[in-house]
Amino acid sequence: MTLYDLVAPGLDTCAEPRYRIAEIREADPLGADALLAALPAMNRDADIPALTVALRALVPDLDRVSEWCVIEALAAMRDLGMLLGSLKRHGVQPVAAVPEVLPVLEELARRTDMVPRDTVHHYTTWNPLGSRQRMYTGEEMEAHLQDAVRMVFPSLVAALRTCTDLAGLEPYDPGFALALDRTAQHVQSMVDAIDFTVDNVSPGFFARVLRPYFEEIDVAGRDYLGPAAAQVPLWLVDLTVWQCDRPHPAYDAFLAESVAYSLPAWRAFHAVHKGGTSAVSKLSAALSWETVHRMPPELAAAAVSLARVLRILKTFRARHLGIARKAYSDDIRLYDQGSGGAPVALLRSVLDLTRDNETLVRRSLERPRTPAA
Ligand code: HEM
Repeated sequence: MTLYDLVAPGLDTCAEPRYRIAEIREADPLGADALLAALPAMNRDADIPALTVALRALVPDLDRVSEWCVIEALAAMRDLGMLLGSLKRHGVQPVAAVPEVLPVLEELARRTDMVPRDTVHHYTTWNPLGSRQRMYTGEEMEAHLQDAVRMVFPSLVAALRTCTDLAGLEPYDPGFALALDRTAQHVQSMVDAIDFTVDNVSPGFFARVLRPYFEEIDVAGRDYLGPAAAQVPLWLVDLTVWQCDRPHPAYDAFLAESVAYSLPAWRAFHAVHKGGTSAVSKLSAALSWETVHRMPPELAAAAVSLARVLRILKTFRARHLGIARKAYSDDIRLYDQGSGGAPVALLRSVLDLTRDNETLVRRSLERPRTPAA
């Protein structure tokens, strides 16, 4: 049993093929196991000719690609992706070096309804465990960072469901606080993941060894970001909790780019809810209506539950900012921007926004009121 099974039993039986994690991990449609086991050595030696030959050897015929199911197509993109990021790390644009990979990337993107390169989900959740695990470096710290991201995928899938419930409820409904409490349980995995990262991945290793593998690559004239943790869709939770009606240019721009790297159902969730009313706004409106009259118990429960979700988001972001600041400090960083295309300053802004919303909700609970009769 893996950590994943403990967090989300049953996800593997979902109709959505992108959630059938065990099957995707198991799949090896390119027969890449042996070749990718040698990848850390090629990267250590910066052996560009070997990496180029390896990518060329893995590129399948388009006829085969068009017969693959989504599960096989995701696994193939995962394996090609390891070589795309490796070549770029050594200064080579992979599609320019191996042009025959382009139609394959485009067909895999079409079949999976995702971007034409690997994402963080390919690199972590859909990556096999044990001896078949795909890694750029083979270092233990790389495996730990992959594990940290693996820990959160099932919880975010579960949070998507509870946030969908939340979006359809009003604060007076007892289900509103319940949806928030369930969301809080799921989001706690983000805190556990960042604590695990802080304990097991040094900022120096991330900055100087791993970060270069997450550089963007050019696919048909467009840059696509590497499979970095910044693509972990915490925005799925932000959206309905506080973000959809609180514009912030920098975070909005980051999200506009990040959404493209997520799964089709998550992009659909974003499209449906981005113009909606957040839980914070719904609660604020309900509380202002009640100001002089009473404080119904459902509303008090909703406020407590909402503040709890925001506090957990804030805790993740504060700890995450701590490690990001170290990894991007002047003395060790190789890049100014994060691998998700944004600076560390963005993390500070998003933390501030999360904290402001939490404060707003907490203050609303502290305002003197006449208790309900
Ligand atoms: C050494 C470890 C890490 C470093 C140095 C780091 C650094 C960063 C940086 C600089 C950003 C800004 C966007 C960008 O990259 O362009 C970012 C965003 C983000 N990272 Fe990380 N990160 C690390 C690990 C993680 C892990 C383990 C997770 C989740 C399990 C994670 C989740 C996120 C999320 C969700 C964002 C989007 C901003 C937000 O929602 O607050 N990161 N990270």
